[in-house]
Amino acid sequence: MGDHLDLLLGVVLMASPVLGIPSCSSDGQVALYRFCNLTQVPQVLSTTKNLLLSFNYIKTVTTTSFPFLEQLQLLELGTQFTPLTIDKEAFRNLPNLRILDLGKNQIDFLHPDAFQGLPHLFELRLFSCGLSDAVLKDGYFRNLESLTRLDLSINQIRGLYLHPSFQDLNSLKSIDFSLNQIPIVCEHGLEPLQGKTLSFLSLAKNNLYSRVSVDWKKCMNPFRNMVLETLDVSGNGWTVDVTGNFSSAINGSQIFSLVLAYHIMGSGFGFHNIKDPDRNTFAGLARSSVIRLDLSHGFIFSLNFRLFETLKELKVLNLAYNKINKITDGAFYGLDNLQILNMSYNLLGELYNSNFDGLPKVAYVDLQKNHIGIIQAETFRFLEKLETLDLRDNALKTINFIPNIPNIFLGGNKLVTLPNIQLTANFIHLSENRLENLDYLYFLLQVPHLQILILNQNRFSTCNKGHAPSKNLSLEQLFLGENMLQLAWEGGFCWDVFKGLFHLQVLYLNNNYLNFLPPGVFSDLTALRGLSLNSNRLTALSPGDLPANLEVLDISRNQLLSPDPDLFASLSALDITHNKFICECELSAFINWLNQTNVTIFGSHADIYCMYPDSFSGASLYSVSTEGCDEEEFFKSLNFSLFLLFTVTLTLFLMTVLIVTKFRGSCFTCYMTAQRLVFKDRTRGRETDTYKYDAYLCFSSKDFEWVQNALLTHLDAQYSDQNRFKLCFEERDFVPGENHITNIQDAVWSSRKVVCLVSRHFLGDGWCLEAFSYAQSRCLSDLNSALIMVVVGSLSQYQLMKHQSIRGFVQTQQYLRWPEDLQDVGWFLNKLSQHILKKEKGTKKDNNIPLEALATIS
Ligand SMILES: *[C@@H]1O[C@H](CO)[C@@H](O)[C@H](O)[C@H]1NC(C)=O
Ligand SMILES: *[C@@H]1O[C@H](CO)[C@@H](O)[C@H](O)[C@H]1NC(C)=O
Ligand SMILES: *[C@@H]1O[C@H](CO)[C@@H](O)[C@H](O)[C@H]1NC(C)=O
Ligand SMILES: *[C@@H]1O[C@H](CO)[C@@H](O)[C@H](O)[C@H]1NC(C)=O
Ligand SMILES: *[C@@H]1O[C@H](CO)[C@@H](O)[C@H](O)[C@H]1NC(C)=O
Ligand SMILES: *[C@@H]1O[C@H](CO)[C@@H](O)[C@H](O)[C@H]1NC(C)=O
Ligand SMILES: *[C@@H]1O[C@H](CO)[C@@H](O)[C@H](O)[C@H]1NC(C)=O
Repeated sequence: MGDHLDLLLGVVLMASPVLGIPSCSSDGQVALYRFCNLTQVPQVLSTTKNLLLSFNYIKTVTTTSFPFLEQLQLLELGTQFTPLTIDKEAFRNLPNLRILDLGKNQIDFLHPDAFQGLPHLFELRLFSCGLSDAVLKDGYFRNLESLTRLDLSINQIRGLYLHPSFQDLNSLKSIDFSLNQIPIVCEHGLEPLQGKTLSFLSLAKNNLYSRVSVDWKKCMNPFRNMVLETLDVSGNGWTVDVTGNFSSAINGSQIFSLVLAYHIMGSGFGFHNIKDPDRNTFAGLARSSVIRLDLSHGFIFSLNFRLFETLKELKVLNLAYNKINKITDGAFYGLDNLQILNMSYNLLGELYNSNFDGLPKVAYVDLQKNHIGIIQAETFRFLEKLETLDLRDNALKTINFIPNIPNIFLGGNKLVTLPNIQLTANFIHLSENRLENLDYLYFLLQVPHLQILILNQNRFSTCNKGHAPSKNLSLEQLFLGENMLQLAWEGGFCWDVFKGLFHLQVLYLNNNYLNFLPPGVFSDLTALRGLSLNSNRLTALSPGDLPANLEVLDISRNQLLSPDPDLFASLSALDITHNKFICECELSAFINWLNQTNVTIFGSHADIYCMYPDSFSGASLYSVSTEGCDEEEFFKSLNFSLFLLFTVTLTLFLMTVLIVTKFRGSCFTCYMTAQRLVFKDRTRGRETDTYKYDAYLCFSSKDFEWVQNALLTHLDAQYSDQNRFKLCFEERDFVPGENHITNIQDAVWSSRKVVCLVSRHFLGDGWCLEAFSYAQSRCLSDLNSALIMVVVGSLSQYQLMKHQSIRGFVQTQQYLRWPEDLQDVGWFLNKLSQHILKKEKGTKKDNNIPLEALATIS
């Protein structure tokens, strides 16, 4: 699902910079020669700044290989498909080179003076070059006074003995020795680095200290007198013993961020033979000022007593991806400055009041992806600085332990209800739970200061009446996708759920099975800028349905048949792909709008396509011509008065609808009583005319029983004296033995009206369809509307449209639908009676003009 509302949520989509240069050529500044089968350096202009020569066949680089390129800053010479020889002062002609990339070469010969003459070299990439210890021992890097980053990862270095010239590399900040085979590093090997401050030193994945037994007395402190901002010793297979010995050995060296991930400390789940770390393991780090400690990806099962007590300065502790199931009381004592505690992806099942004692400054506790089913009520109460609690993807059934903190993540739990607690928060994440009753939504909307509420993938579908009207709510973003709001709304309730949300800017209602929008449901959302109605079942949008100031609308994957472009006037972007457009003249306004609008339309042209009629199915709206739909022009002058009339009618209509939907049954009864009192029995004395019958009732014989109960007993005079109509229907009034067609013709012509009861059976019955066509042709020749169509049962527009004759009628005339609600039947019968009684004026109506089909541009 394309989330275009991300635009509003601050995600800036940036076009990736494209080098507009064809391969194997140069634009003067950038020379792009990757994959060019070169065996030597090509001729490039002296203005070249970036020379990209990776993926070629260059075998040797010598002093004369490069022309003098004073401007050159970046040279890429990685991945030559042939062994590479680099000779003395090979890059001397590139005096201002800043980045030299030789990565992924098989360097057969590297002259000890290869890198001489590069006073400005800032970064040297020598990863995966098959280099041995010699590259460090023999002073290859001397005189590189600007060298800041040195990448020697993935080589064959087996010991660290740095050449004394490292001492002079005053710019050096970052050295990567990861993925070599360095079993041991001792103090004298790194002596040239003493006194330096490095921002990054990696010794990861070397089996360091784990394959040999180390005599720490002799080895001493490899990082003596160094300040390391980040030391990465992860992936070396360290046990509790190795870690303990190592941390004692480096006593006093400053290491602000220590990465010990991918260790093998801890007993894991179900084992006891391997130790969990204890209060001695990290004791040696007491004077190292460790601020971040990464212990993720290991096997720690139990957090032991006072495990971290010496780490007074620690601010970030990452314990994710271990097997932690047990937090011993006092485990966190001493972490006086800890701010972020990450215990996600562990095996915690329950939390007790005392678990987080000793964390006076913790602001963020990440407990996602555990199996927590129960939490004691006071567990988080005394974490005074707590701001964010992440409990996503656990097994919680209640949240009565939630403290008043700004950010609460509770998605992916098993919440069916919410307790009636006092809650204050800015951000609540509750997606993927099992909330069903909209009461909880009303409750959450009232949470003071709430700005973002995420409720995707719940089961909101039921609604209790009688909610207090909301006040001025602070909410700015509301995510309600993948619920079942249709079920709540179709009963006519909870239409006021968005009332009072004057500050709401973004609303997601995607995947809610919506086939209508309750009138006025968005009327308070005056600040709303983004709305997603993606993947619902909306067939039409009415004026006023959308919030007034909406900018971005996603209404893709609905069933819009023929939208009115005026609805989209306020938008700046629209996604309307994958709908079910009916490509007939009615759509021409939309098609024209689409062709020339300034609104950004998401998706490819091919995704905005016709669904009906069949001959256009799948054709892009952009390929459909609207020629031959010009009747529109003729009506233009009428537009304004029609508009006024329409607005007034609509307003009255909406007001009436609102009143009537609530009390329609009783309203109608009152109305009828009143009418009877006022008009006495006048309605019964009606004028006679030339027709034998009032109406011919045309229906499938399979529906007879239903028709008899629902209609005949209430309308036909033979069934009851109360009834006023003389009706005609096949079962009673057709002449037996007579040709069926003749019978139908007679019935059609000798009745004032023809009432077709279009049900599923009707559509399957050839005679019924035949009768329908006759009735229609009588309408055409008499220029009247003798045909009344009543749709019975849940037939979709599409099912009706499948039948040629019915389609013509449906598109041009109004038809009636049998009411679903029993209380409406009386009203319906009355309306039907009026239709039957209505006299024909014999004039042709405007909307009877047959519409021309559209034609594709081939
Ligand atoms: C490089 O050589 C291969 C094989 O000879 C050839 O297919 C490819 O087109 C050549 N590439 C260039 C950029 O000349
Ligand atoms: C840790 O140090 C102690 C004492 O120096 C030594 O006996 C032990 O073997 C060392 N453990 C490891 C795994 O190096
Ligand atoms: C660390 O060194 C200090 C002084 O240099 C010493 O007092 C302390 O005992 C040492 N700590 C460890 C764990 O070796
Ligand atoms: C905790 O660790 C997990 C797994 O690495 C990570 O996804 C999450 O973002 C971390 N949480 C915090 C607050 O850094
Ligand atoms: C709602 O409250 C905000 C302040 O929180 C205020 O600026 C705004 O005018 C209020 N709006 C209404 C409609 O009461
Ligand atoms: C789109 O508009 C252009 C002029 O702006 C017109 O030439 C073209 O025929 C239009 N296309 C369609 C499909 O209406
Ligand atoms: C589109 O923008 C142009 C220039 O900003 C303006 O002249 C034109 O009227 C706009 N068209 C529509 C349909 O709004």
